[in-house]
Amino acid sequence: MDNLLVNDRTEEILKQDEHLVHSFSDLHSLQAAGARTVISQAEGAYVFNEQGERYLDGMAGLWCVNVGHGRREISSAVAEQLNTLDYFSTFYNLTHPSAAQLAEKIATMAPGSLNRVYFGNSGSVANDTAVRVLHHYFNRLGHPRKKKILSRIGAYHGSTHLAIAMTTPAYREGWDSAEELVHFLSSPCPYYRPDNMSEPEFADFLIDEMVRDIEKIGADRIACFIAEPIMGAGGVLVPPQGYHQHAAAVCAEYEIKTISDEVVTAFGRLGHMFASNDVFGIQPDVICTAKGLSSGYQPISATIFSDEIYEVIAGSGDRFLHGMTYSGHPACCAAALANIAIIENDKICEHVLEVGPRFEASLKSLSDLPIVGDVRGSHFMIGIEFVQNKDTRRPFDDEIAIGMRVSQKAQDRGLIVRPLGAMIVLSPPLILTVTQIDEIAGILRESIVSVLDDLAKAKLL
Ligand SMILES: Cc1ncc(COP(=O)(O)O)c(C=O)c1O
Repeated sequence: MDNLLVNDRTEEILKQDEHLVHSFSDLHSLQAAGARTVISQAEGAYVFNEQGERYLDGMAGLWCVNVGHGRREISSAVAEQLNTLDYFSTFYNLTHPSAAQLAEKIATMAPGSLNRVYFGNSGSVANDTAVRVLHHYFNRLGHPRKKKILSRIGAYHGSTHLAIAMTTPAYREGWDSAEELVHFLSSPCPYYRPDNMSEPEFADFLIDEMVRDIEKIGADRIACFIAEPIMGAGGVLVPPQGYHQHAAAVCAEYEIKTISDEVVTAFGRLGHMFASNDVFGIQPDVICTAKGLSSGYQPISATIFSDEIYEVIAGSGDRFLHGMTYSGHPACCAAALANIAIIENDKICEHVLEVGPRFEASLKSLSDLPIVGDVRGSHFMIGIEFVQNKDTRRPFDDEIAIGMRVSQKAQDRGLIVRPLGAMIVLSPPLILTVTQIDEIAGILRESIVSVLDDLAKAKLL
């Protein structure tokens, strides 16, 4: 980074940070130990801490900085927007240019008749909006009992009261949620499928379960099925071949609407603007997206509905009773438009399609290490699962915190990855070069070997 400013204020910042409530953190330990790293600058695929130390950002922030850090086209577009129109709402019959332009742009990119866009400021809100609107859709059609949501064990759909209810129960242990609305189907994780099943049999097993549960609950009580094309925070779970298409067919048969949660998978992460149709061959009724929509430069999400849903909720004598002050915020829309222009002009999807397989292959090459049980995912969305015994797939005890150990070793070597139970997850900026890909694989190999040494010394293997 040419203009790196080093003025180490770590101590002062950590003191101020005592007032900050950190998401998904162990607040008790954090209170005792404080935050570990203060990241204060970023450029390309790298972030820098207060001491000026450089880290490869293996998570693209939080699965979001798709075009990489420091893109002046986006920050300039935001500044220009704020200087022209800092804020106005899209309530009632008002609008402004950047919200209208972005809505049209998204409609042209989204598959099929997904032409109607509602903006929010997070993936959680996008998913909440989808369910609120579908509930209302069925009310309008005279089916007020159609309210339940089918979700899956392992899913992550966000943290608002409703989104966390649709999220796998492990993410809300001891916390309340609107769980009475949600029915969970089995996780589609092939690695932990029942022993005797082939992958096609596993797909059939999951679909049979879906049909059985729909029949049991009654389709007249189920509004929608929400699914990430590839589960992210649940452990980068790629479902068995054909699963999404079969699930969509079942939903169509039972008149259950499908929501594709593309908060992570859209805007190039799998090599396409949207993965639902281009990668998995499905046409959802609603797509929810966020993160890569602005590459995280501004908080914006989109809930994209089919024309058919829109026509029903736009019927006469009704109002769209849903709205947030920052829905379609001009600066967020400007950031998203500039970001989409970069994805298109820099041919980011093409780059991901070209080098994504190399990323997958170089991480898969770690499979020779004795604790690497599974390397899974697709293109720029990969998870590595560690197991105590590869033959039996016996997991590590939670106390060993194996994912955290590997991620800390990687961080010591200049790479940020996300620990997730017995896994680490990688979801880097989509601009990664082949050299950086090789660097990541090298650092991870060294880190895992070093953890192996530690475990052997502590007789934990
Ligand atoms: C698939 C998926 N859906 C929804 C969300 C929630 O998005 P947000 O954190 O912006 O509310 C996330 C966040 O990681 C996600 O991965």
